[in-house]
Amino acid sequence: MTKQPQNQQPLKYTVQIEAETASIYEKVKTVIPQFEWPAIAPYVAEINRLKKEKNAVILAHNYMTPDIFHTVADYVGDSLGLARKATETDAEVIIQCGVHFMAETAKLLNPNKTVIVPDMDAGCSLAESITAADVRMLRQAHPGVPIVTYVNTSAEVKAECDICCTSGNAVEIIESLESDTVLCIPDQFLASWIAKQTKKKILTWQGRCEVHERFTGKEIKAYRKRFNGDITIIAHPECPPDVIEAADFVGSTSGMINYAKEKRPKRVLMVTECSMSDNVAAEVQDVEFIRPCNLCPHMKRITLPKILESLRTLGPEVTVEPEVAARARKAVEAMLAVDEEKARKLANKRVA
Ligand code: 13P
Ligand code: SF4
Repeated sequence: MTKQPQNQQPLKYTVQIEAETASIYEKVKTVIPQFEWPAIAPYVAEINRLKKEKNAVILAHNYMTPDIFHTVADYVGDSLGLARKATETDAEVIIQCGVHFMAETAKLLNPNKTVIVPDMDAGCSLAESITAADVRMLRQAHPGVPIVTYVNTSAEVKAECDICCTSGNAVEIIESLESDTVLCIPDQFLASWIAKQTKKKILTWQGRCEVHERFTGKEIKAYRKRFNGDITIIAHPECPPDVIEAADFVGSTSGMINYAKEKRPKRVLMVTECSMSDNVAAEVQDVEFIRPCNLCPHMKRITLPKILESLRTLGPEVTVEPEVAARARKAVEAMLAVDEEKARKLANKRVA
């Protein structure tokens, strides 16, 4: 486990904590060695106690390490799932275990709640690839073309855009727009994946995820060869086009998890951030996970000691300037409205 925040004393593993956390350890015993548990369990116990005391909820992204994902999170999911959960919670405090833009999205949807990200420096190379001024420039260069922003952007960027999307709903969002041409920013690989699934003309930006851009089609083909084709390859749409081309399934982080859990392939390669395989492996023992490990250094800034510190101090709090928030919220809410409409149509279809 990473070192404690300054002035935080390591917590002691007592007989009482051992008993209190025994059933929690059962959930992670295949991915966390027993000798590590005494260092982890005291944090798990204290975080779960403080959560109740402070009326806080922990929303954790699928890239959190198993010690966070399986032991202290109240809800886990992809960016879309976490945004939806943020609209549903009654808790006064939201601890967003993920990166800064995810916490900002939760704040946009809950302006009156305390929203905390345990490490303010947990950024994202996609969010950093574009500014509000860039979007204004694009707007001028392409008058009348709707701008869809991936949710992996700052509130300032969202404020300049018409609607958000995530990897879980990108195609539906694009199809919901009337225009035949759509600007889809900032991830060029996500945009090229969308372009293959729509008749609309997709314009984009040169942003990339520093984690997914490192995978190559050559590497994926080599895995297929190594296992004589007896391997299922599932990839995130932030990967380069040759990786997407070589994959059996492409989807959001939750889409990938559901695929592995439902299809139960004998052997699977999850082409995404490392912790995903660990988190699913803890629940699914009959699938062999092959792990080409690319870590997201930003996601990995979130640790149990930092979550504990956040609960103790109720910080660092994420804030968004009200005028920016009002405009950015519209883009996020427009996305959630398309999702609700789709869910309503599906429900009607089932009834009919
Ligand atoms: P998901 O919305 O699929 O969870 O993706 C978020 C992300 O940052 C992937 O790198
Ligand atoms: Fe951003 Fe990539 Fe990390 Fe996701 S994995 S948070 S897109 S840098």
